[in-house]
Amino acid sequence: MKTIFTLKNAVCVATAALFVLPFNSAKAQKANPDAKMNAFIGDIMKKMTLDEKIGQLNLITSGMAITGTVTNNGVEANLKKGAIGGIFGLYGTQQVREMQELAIKNSRFKIPLIFGLDVIHGHRTIFPIPLGISTTWDMGLIEQSARIAAREATAEGLNWVFSPMVDIARDARWGRISEGSGEDPWYGGQVAQAMVKGYQGKSMTDADAVMACVKHFALYGAAEAGREYNTADMSKVAMYNYYMPPYKAAVDAGAGSFMSSFNVVDGVPATVNRWLLTDLLRKQWGFKGFVVSDYTALNEVTNHGLGDLQTVSALALKAGLDMDMVGEGFLSTLKKSLQEKKITQAEIDLACRRVLEAKYKLGLFANPYKSLDPAREKSEPMSEANRKAARTTAEHSFVLLKNDNQVLPLKKANSKIAVVGPLADNKRDMLGTWVIAGEWEKSVSVLEGIKNVVGNSSQITYAKGANITEDTAFMARLNFFGQQMVSIDKRSSDDLLEEAVKAAKKSDVIVAVVGESQSMSGESSSRADISIPESQQRMLKELAKLGKPLVIVLFNGRPLTLTWENEHASAILDVWAPGTEAGNAVGEVLFGNYNPSGKLTTTFPRSVGQIPLYYNHLNTGRPYTDGPAKFKSVYLDISNDPLYPFGYGLSYTKFSYTNLRLSKTKLKGNETLQATVTVTNTGGYAGEEVVQLYIGDPAASIARPVKELKGFQKLNFQPGERKDVTFNITPAQLKFYNSQLKYDWEAGDFIIQVGTSSSDVKTGRVNWAK
Ligand code: BGC
Repeated sequence: MKTIFTLKNAVCVATAALFVLPFNSAKAQKANPDAKMNAFIGDIMKKMTLDEKIGQLNLITSGMAITGTVTNNGVEANLKKGAIGGIFGLYGTQQVREMQELAIKNSRFKIPLIFGLDVIHGHRTIFPIPLGISTTWDMGLIEQSARIAAREATAEGLNWVFSPMVDIARDARWGRISEGSGEDPWYGGQVAQAMVKGYQGKSMTDADAVMACVKHFALYGAAEAGREYNTADMSKVAMYNYYMPPYKAAVDAGAGSFMSSFNVVDGVPATVNRWLLTDLLRKQWGFKGFVVSDYTALNEVTNHGLGDLQTVSALALKAGLDMDMVGEGFLSTLKKSLQEKKITQAEIDLACRRVLEAKYKLGLFANPYKSLDPAREKSEPMSEANRKAARTTAEHSFVLLKNDNQVLPLKKANSKIAVVGPLADNKRDMLGTWVIAGEWEKSVSVLEGIKNVVGNSSQITYAKGANITEDTAFMARLNFFGQQMVSIDKRSSDDLLEEAVKAAKKSDVIVAVVGESQSMSGESSSRADISIPESQQRMLKELAKLGKPLVIVLFNGRPLTLTWENEHASAILDVWAPGTEAGNAVGEVLFGNYNPSGKLTTTFPRSVGQIPLYYNHLNTGRPYTDGPAKFKSVYLDISNDPLYPFGYGLSYTKFSYTNLRLSKTKLKGNETLQATVTVTNTGGYAGEEVVQLYIGDPAASIARPVKELKGFQKLNFQPGERKDVTFNITPAQLKFYNSQLKYDWEAGDFIIQVGTSSSDVKTGRVNWAK
């Protein structure tokens, strides 16, 4: 999807707005580092009219609905009136310049616009979907992906990205699980910080830095039944301990803006929730930026039952919402509400000030055209270096779920390989959800990638084998945007299948490229059945009957139920949606040029009936381990265990964990505990391993999770290499929110666990006194 808004009649070249700042002594500046900004903005605000102030709170689209159905009309006229604070969905140096000039020229105080977009996992060069990026467990790569996205986005005039999405998700039915970092609050916080740093760079005033917008505040990922936009409801203890940490981590990393979520939080829609937007976010956490609503989320508060647009707009302003995305609730009602004394001038001023501060922090007052450099617009997007980084990130994100008899890596030479499946010779679905500026035509298919690696040294036979789906009602929803995102082949399914079986019969190994297409995950893409669509399963079942090694290359925006596949395939390589360089990355990994090192950040259930399923669950009073199941917390028809647990992922080599030793078993106060384990590469390949630290807190004032991730190290091992891996543990890592929401640790026993996944650990026990 590409959004181009060409503004006719935009002429003049406005000079950059350079204001002379009021005198500030060095001492005052030190005491208050924001003094200069405050004085500058205070000066403008003294002179701004009410309409001009309200205009700053209005975010519009450039004329195209990206996710909702509402678009804004009269953009040019509103710009001239100063009734627009920012634009989203518009990019390109020329288009941005035209708009910016119009704003600057018509604004008495030369107030620049802010230009935002959903740059989610890359701008032009597409990286793996966020869930895939998270399975790299490599903060350097994650930060780099955001940095490159920022460089490409700014090269096309953007200065604000609606990312990172840090919503914790424990429900694979929810389509937006693909946009986050999985189920762990601490790990989610690490990723959030890496992303914010990558986007905002060294200084947001730099020409290649964007402001991050952390979303969706809050609890959006806890939608009941995994159904999009549904109600979320949970105790404060659960909120604080398991859902809030990534948002808080993003604040600590200096994120410039937040987006309120569509759902209710403790019964009050997030967009009008004062406790959430002011008491927690600003007062408790010290957030200094501005909050924008989600797309028409303010208008939708009416559907939640809190009143008409005027009422909910007033509520939102009072709650601490500063900018209204698309719905024009602020623009159309705040003046009236002020006249009727439903809101105060001070409340409008505060929101306006925060928006102006964001623009100031981005350096846009000093130079509204700071990143509009046509030369960089040509050279930066999709540069060779950026594509290479995307490929490396993709390789690191793949999770090897199964590999019987070391069927992987495949031999590069003298093999006969059947490459089959609807996602094999496919470019569009390589990119995954949210790729507004992504150009799928430029992505590398798996078939191409395999051929790039093997050249002429092996024989590759391709057959499509199946349609992505043949369920026409499902297809119609997948094709919402009118493009043929998913289509049915002109040949019959039997013909497709026959061709694949024929190709497979001639080959030594079958590589089946299957799973979810692009529009099966992402926003408004909940699924009640999270298996591979039936048409593709039918193909897999026929291929499995041939008794040849069957390698599944799995595309997915969420954990899928894969019990049949796990039983019948020889190998499963989960590649998520790897982005522009998809095929090349898959080729490199299938043939062993890179040894997979990704680990899951979400639990894969055996059945959708187990959901929500997550590793850091509480114990029950009647936990089931083994023996008779009656009167235990267990299903009659299925085990409690996941198919693949959090933290799981194989390698072409093998790692053994031995000898967990603890520096002490009795500790007091602020001492540091060292937990050391010996990790050995006992296999024949060099490889990376994510060594994971979990801690359990079996006796506390509230029920605590059976284990929680508290650290990890991703390390390289040569074949035969052995390393002692040490984690330093301090009481800070033992803290949690108790039932009074006090954040502290409690003396007692702790179970220290180090291992290769959440369910494969060595354990030790310590006692820690206060
Ligand atoms: C989504 C947001 C997105 C916004 C603007 C909404 O529907 O929930 O994540 O940033 O649209 O495109």
